[in-house]
Amino acid sequence: MSVAIIILILTLTSLIPIYANIHGAGKICDELGRRSLSTRPHSVSISEFGAVGDGKTLNTIAFQNAVFYLMSFADKGGAQLYVPPGKWLTGSFSLTSHLTLFIENGAVIVASQDPAHWEGVDPLPSYGRGIDLPGKRYKSLINGNMLHDVVVTGDNGTIDGQGLVWWDRLTSHSLKHSRPHLIEFISSENIIVSNLTFLNAPSYTIHSIYSSHVHIHKILAHSSPESPYTIGIVPDSSYNVCIQNSTINVGYDAIALKSGWDEYGIAYSRPTVNVHIRNVYLRGAYGSSISFGSEMSGGISNIVVDNGHIHNSLSGIAFRTTKGRGSYMKEIDISNIDMSRIGTAIVANGSFGSHPDDKYDANALPLVSHIRLNNISGVNIGVAGKLFGIQESPFSSLVLSNVSLSMNSGSTDSWQCDYVYGSSESVIPEPCPELRRDEDAYSRASV
Ligand SMILES: *[C@@H]1O[C@H](CO)[C@@H](O)[C@H](O)[C@H]1NC(C)=O
Ligand SMILES: *[C@@H]1O[C@H](CO)[C@@H](O)[C@H](O)[C@H]1NC(C)=O
Ligand SMILES: *[C@@H]1O[C@H](CO)[C@@H](O)[C@H](O)[C@H]1NC(C)=O
Ligand SMILES: *[C@@H]1O[C@H](CO)[C@@H](O)[C@H](O)[C@H]1NC(C)=O
Ligand SMILES: *[C@@H]1O[C@H](CO)[C@@H](O)[C@H](O)[C@H]1NC(C)=O
Ligand SMILES: *[C@@H]1O[C@H](CO)[C@@H](O)[C@H](O)[C@H]1NC(C)=O
Repeated sequence: MSVAIIILILTLTSLIPIYANIHGAGKICDELGRRSLSTRPHSVSISEFGAVGDGKTLNTIAFQNAVFYLMSFADKGGAQLYVPPGKWLTGSFSLTSHLTLFIENGAVIVASQDPAHWEGVDPLPSYGRGIDLPGKRYKSLINGNMLHDVVVTGDNGTIDGQGLVWWDRLTSHSLKHSRPHLIEFISSENIIVSNLTFLNAPSYTIHSIYSSHVHIHKILAHSSPESPYTIGIVPDSSYNVCIQNSTINVGYDAIALKSGWDEYGIAYSRPTVNVHIRNVYLRGAYGSSISFGSEMSGGISNIVVDNGHIHNSLSGIAFRTTKGRGSYMKEIDISNIDMSRIGTAIVANGSFGSHPDDKYDANALPLVSHIRLNNISGVNIGVAGKLFGIQESPFSSLVLSNVSLSMNSGSTDSWQCDYVYGSSESVIPEPCPELRRDEDAYSRASV
C-alpha cells in the first residue's frame, strides 16, 4: 500500500464523527485495527544512550536523551526506541510524536521507588486536584502530552511499576502528592499500546485523558488483589477508544470509564464517548471488573462492551455516581459476559464517592439512562443486583435481557432496587418490581 493511501486511511479514520451513535461504538475496534503499524525507518537502542540494564543503574536521563534525540525524526517517518532484554530502572520520562517504544521479550522497564525521581505536576483541569489527596500529582512513569502517532509495544516485554511502596504510602497517609500512573496520554491521538505485560502499577496502569483514537490490545495488567485502589485501564474524557484481547487483574477496578470530577469536570465538559471493549478477562478484586464513574462529570455515552469474562471481583459491572456530579451516563450496551465468583453482579449506586472539595453544587444531578445488559450469565454470585438510583433523579431505561445468574447457596435477597426503572426479559433470578415496569408509563408519570 502506498504512503498516500495509508495517510488517506488515517485521515478518514480521524473523521469519524465524535458523537456517532452507539452502533458506531461497536465498530471502533475494527476501525482502529485496520490502521497498520507503521514501521519506523530509524531505530536506536536505549543502550546507545548509556543506559545499563542491571536493575540498579538509574536510566531516566538515558530515556529522556533518547526521546529528545528521536524528536528530530518526527518529520522523517518517525523512529523506534528499542529496549533490549535486561532490567532498566528509571524515573518518569516523556514520549514524543511518531515514536514507537519497543520493549523486547525479556526486557523489563522498572519504575524507581524513590519519589525524588518523579516530578510533581499540576492536577488535571477536569479533576481540580489529585485523586488520592488535594494538590499536585506525580507525573506518570511513561507519559505523552499533546502527541500523535505513538506506539508502545513489544514482544511481551514488561513494565513493572513496583507499586508496593506507593500502596504503603497511600495506606499510611505518607504520600506527598497523588500516586503516579504507569502510562498516561494527555490530549493525544492515534495511540497504540499492545503486546506488553504491566505489573504493579502504583495507581492506574493506563490512563487516556482528553485523547482519541486509542487502541489498547493484547496487554496483561496485573497487581495483587490487595493493592489499594489500583485500576487497570481508564478511558477518561476520551473518544474512539478500543480495549481488546486483554487480561486485567487488579486490586480495585479492572476497566473504569471516567470523565472528570464534580464542578471541575462540569466546567471542563469533556465526555468519554465511543468506547469499544471486547474479548477481555477481568478481575477487580475489591472494586468492579467494569465500572462507569464515579467521576463522570463530563458525561459518558455510546459505550459497547462485548464478550467479557469477569471473575473474583467484589462487583461485576458497576455504575457509580452521586449528587454534585451533574452530567450523564447513557447509551451503554453490555453483552455476552460471563461471570464467576462475584459479590454483586450488577451495581448501580447514586450515592457513591466523595467530592474534590466543598465547592461542588449539590443540585447538579447526574442522569443515568439507556443502559442495556444482554446475554449475561454468572455462577457463584452473591447478590444479583444492588440498584440504587437518586431520589430526585431516578435511573431510567435500564434494560436487562437474557440474564441468568446462579447464586451462592445461602443468598436470598437477589435484587435490591430503589429509584431505578426499567424493563427485563428472561432474567433469572426474577428481578425487582422496578425492572418490570412499563417504561412509557414511567416517562408519562415523570412529565
Ligand atoms: C506481539 O507479540 C507476539 C508474540 O507474543 C509476536 O509474535 C508479534 O509479532 C508481536 N507484535 C508486535 C506488533 O510486536
Ligand atoms: C507475557 O509475560 C508474562 C509475564 O512474564 C507472562 O505471564 C505471560 O504469559 C506472557 N504472555 C505471552 C502471550 O507470552
Ligand atoms: C483479537 O483476538 C481475535 C481472536 O483471537 C483475533 O482474531 C484478532 O486479530 C485480535 N486482534 C487484535 C488487534 O489483537
Ligand atoms: C454506595 O456507595 C457508598 C460509598 O461507597 C456506600 O457507602 C453505600 O453503601 C453504597 N450504597 C449501596 C446501596 O450499596
Ligand atoms: C443467552 O445468553 C447466553 C450466554 O449467556 C447464550 O449462550 C444464549 O444463547 C442466549 N440466549 C438467547 C436466546 O439469546
Ligand atoms: C445473545 O446471544 C445470542 C446467541 O449466542 C446471539 O445470537 C445474540 O446476537 C446475542 N446478543 C447480543 C446483543 O450480542
